[in-house]
Amino acid sequence: MEFKEVIGRRRSIRFFEPDRPVEREKIQTILEAARLASCAVNAHWAKAIVVERDQLSEEKLERLKTPVSALNIELAPVHIYWYADLSVVNRIQGSRLKELVDVGALAPTHGWSHKFVDEFVYPQVLRPMTEGPGYAVAAAADCGVTICQALLTAFDEGLGACLSAFNSAIAKELFQVPDEWVPLYCLALGYPAESWEAGGQRPRPPFEEQYFEGEHGHPFQRDQAVVEKLKQAKMIQRPATPNNPERTEEIKRLAERLGLPM
Ligand SMILES: Cc1cc2nc3c(=O)[nH]c(=O)nc-3n(C[C@H](O)[C@H](O)[C@H](O)COP(=O)(O)O)c2cc1C
Repeated sequence: MEFKEVIGRRRSIRFFEPDRPVEREKIQTILEAARLASCAVNAHWAKAIVVERDQLSEEKLERLKTPVSALNIELAPVHIYWYADLSVVNRIQGSRLKELVDVGALAPTHGWSHKFVDEFVYPQVLRPMTEGPGYAVAAAADCGVTICQALLTAFDEGLGACLSAFNSAIAKELFQVPDEWVPLYCLALGYPAESWEAGGQRPRPPFEEQYFEGEHGHPFQRDQAVVEKLKQAKMIQRPATPNNPERTEEIKRLAERLGLPM
């Protein structure tokens, strides 16, 4: 699949084939994609624990659910629990930045050197950042980039996925999660039981409400010719519409087949 189509085809899949296993190779591919994501100061906060649902007892699975994610967690044969490891910055103390200097990614033209990292970036920017009130938010935002790469790769591999809330206190106990790891989301993963279109591309706020040019209040002008081009590239697809009888019928069929309440 082309990149733009992967973006266009991704939508949260919440009906999984509960008994169809996901090949280990595909899970690794998703993790390999995550590892290659861009990351602020090359720190790599994002950590993941892969859990096969069927390795959990019914009682443990039940305890991991939340009211907004219960069925996602129940139907998905694979769970990838994502965390931000807040200890990483003070553990590596700028060493991964120096690796970037060594390979010429951070060049002297841009002011970078080992000395700059050791004497300025780590002690005066990074270490204080870890003590500031916004640190966890910054780390979590960074992890979002990684998780998005994993999410898109799942779809490229022909799987379905949905980021899902989970009971982090229970997960901490079950998966031996270190204290410094901040819980983010579980990527519920499996083969879709619903059609890949799953009712169409999900509603979004208007483009002009989200993006601005030059200053707030001055919407970025959306060129319809670009929109048309992106439709051709399958990035912008048929939108989901309210009360679509086809989708209602699909949900009814899924509910019957998977024994779910309606
Ligand atoms: C960080 C994050 C957390 C989410 N948590 C949940 C969740 O707990 N339960 C759920 O059903 N969907 C969850 N979602 C999926 C969103 O609800 C979904 O993105 C939204 O329905 C928009 O549709 P789309 O993903 O199909 O394009 C989450 C998505 C993100 C990015």
